[in-house]
Amino acid sequence: MSLTTTTKLHNGVEIPSVGLGVYKMAENEVYESVKTALELGYRHIDTASFYENEEGVGRAIKDSGIPREEIFVTTKVWNDEQGFVETLEAFHRSLTKLGLDYVDLYLVHWPVSDKYKDTWRALEKVYGDGKARAIGVSNFLPHHLDDLMRDSEIMPMINQIELHPQLSQVETREFCKQHNIAVEAWSPIAKGTYLDHPVLQEIAEKYNKTAAQIILRWDFQNEIITIPKSVRKERQRENADIFDFELTQDDIDKINSMDNDNRLGLHPDDF
Ligand SMILES: NC(=O)c1ccc[n+]([C@@H]2O[C@H](COP(=O)([O-])OP(=O)(O)OC[C@H]3O[C@@H](n4cnc5c(N)ncnc54)[C@H](OP(=O)(O)O)[C@@H]3O)[C@@H](O)[C@H]2O)c1
Repeated sequence: MSLTTTTKLHNGVEIPSVGLGVYKMAENEVYESVKTALELGYRHIDTASFYENEEGVGRAIKDSGIPREEIFVTTKVWNDEQGFVETLEAFHRSLTKLGLDYVDLYLVHWPVSDKYKDTWRALEKVYGDGKARAIGVSNFLPHHLDDLMRDSEIMPMINQIELHPQLSQVETREFCKQHNIAVEAWSPIAKGTYLDHPVLQEIAEKYNKTAAQIILRWDFQNEIITIPKSVRKERQRENADIFDFELTQDDIDKINSMDNDNRLGLHPDDF
């Protein structure tokens, strides 16, 4: 198993289970980081129009020389771009910046309450036109998904949410599982804020791994797609090196017990 290990979405498309997140990477930084990650074997890049670095991502992909179809590219429609027509326009802006003919995954970044259904109709059109191989949402709670599904033709293939051991999102994960929506973790290592946690440290020591690797392996064994961000080659390598050991159920239970609702980002209902 490696960085090409995939998770199958409900439409049959395969997404590499570990990808590189590029939030807060500046244009100049993102180019080098994505190129390095691709050299290390990463085949999944997560960007967004909000990150203002799609051009750098696109250039790095092009210059890598790796065939386009071997790289899974995600981007997202930002909140002030939502609405049917607005989203179609935003999508074309993103494609142009990326320099691509299609994306692998297009996401609604946040559930903007009076707009997300119109936005979703635009994503359905993008998907129907063959310009995105999969479509999904981000930061949707079960009530948003319930509401969306009532009026939509296509079920989201993915819900990308803040998810790490101290915010394990049991309820949303269970809802997604019931509806065949894959879950993807953002801020999977909680931006590095509690990698010194004794539970993580104890398990890390046992396997001669780092706390970040323990969390990312916990994601993998829970069938959670994960997109750790790093601009550093050594950390990119570290975050990908999670396929040569296996956590026991006891380890997983201990990590599960760390949940304390420690949300680093905004709550989707307060956005
Ligand atoms: N859909 C959404 O609303 C949403 C919101 C936030 C993020 N995201 C996506 O999720 C991705 C990941 O989330 P994130 O960037 O917020 O946080 P993250 O991946 O949990 O953590 C990134 C931070 O941890 C550091 N780091 C990375 N690997 C490390 C390691 N092995 N050991 C110690 N520190 C390490 C990085 O620093 P260095 O870069 O200096 O290594 C960076 O400061 C984003 O890049 C973005 O693509 C989506």
